[in-house]
Amino acid sequence: MKALILAGGLGSRLRPFSHSMPKQLIPIANKPVLVHVIESLRELGATEVGVVVGDRGGKIAEALGTGAQFGVRLTYIPQEEPRGLAHGVAIARDFLGDDDFVMYLGDNMLTDGVQDIARDFLARRPAAQIVVHKVADPSEFGVAELDTEGRVLRLVEKPLEPCSDLAVTGVYFFTAAIHAAVAAIRPSARGELEITDAIQWLVERGADVQGRIYEGFWRDTGRVEDVLECNSELLKDLTSSVRGEVDAASELIGAVVIEPGARIIRSRLVGPVIVGAGSVVEDSSVGPSTTIGQDCELRSSVIEHSLVLEGAQVAGVGAVRGSVIGRQATVTSGLVPGWHRLLVGDHASVEVAA
Ligand code: G1P
Repeated sequence: MKALILAGGLGSRLRPFSHSMPKQLIPIANKPVLVHVIESLRELGATEVGVVVGDRGGKIAEALGTGAQFGVRLTYIPQEEPRGLAHGVAIARDFLGDDDFVMYLGDNMLTDGVQDIARDFLARRPAAQIVVHKVADPSEFGVAELDTEGRVLRLVEKPLEPCSDLAVTGVYFFTAAIHAAVAAIRPSARGELEITDAIQWLVERGADVQGRIYEGFWRDTGRVEDVLECNSELLKDLTSSVRGEVDAASELIGAVVIEPGARIIRSRLVGPVIVGAGSVVEDSSVGPSTTIGQDCELRSSVIEHSLVLEGAQVAGVGAVRGSVIGRQATVTSGLVPGWHRLLVGDHASVEVAA
């Protein structure tokens, strides 16, 4: 089985971070989402992987290379404009040939794996098999209606009145039957060729389309809240390892990873916490559920449930929570007591203590 990752999306809901990096490279637990995706595909035994990329393709290729370091072989497939998920399948036709394939949206995380669902697909080989997940409000996703045997009766993209509580996740299994469907559909109201419409086209023609319920943790990391929740979820499985320096005046509680070259000075870390290579944490309190990237500096600060990306600096800030601090960003206490001074980039969002 081949694999196709769709990583052409713009990530407008992840601004300002997506201004400077493709949303699929946002690090979660210090690893880009796309690396988590590739690792999941490798678990399924899919090592021949096509990656559909948009105008940020260069940065993605820079981060992932040939894929050899992850045990897969990557083929980059450029998409000139984000014209929909089904369009991604259409332009990957030469790469896919007539093989069965698993399609994975490059911003989706299904942290408990889909091995059982993949096995089911390979054994039965329906025309298409989708992975669905029960959610409270499915109206922002594709929504599926299944019969008691798991056959898909109907699929609708972002319906105002959902016919079930089953959201379509970003993992799909296809045989070559999908190509005729992709060629037959027309753009949706949002101007995109929807994969949901292509699968519904198969359903309407009586093809065997199956849905399998995934019970584990799933997030489409399209929004900052989802990125933070995903980070907390992945950190739950953290195993402590200290490869940097921790001075005698510091205290590590719970699962804490200190990467090589990192220094912890007079600080208290409450796991799960990762401190990236080369970072310095001094006179601070960090965690739980916090990931500090490489080469960051945290001084005299308190931070929890947050993500601090590469090269960022936080100094003298009393209480930071539920925050994402971008690469090389600085957050410091001001020179004039009681006054905030903000240099806030486009589409950024800041909440200050009242
Ligand atoms: C896409 C699909 C939708 C699916 C979702 C999962 O939505 O069109 O059916 O539920 O991914 O992440 P989009 O992210 O393009 O709005």
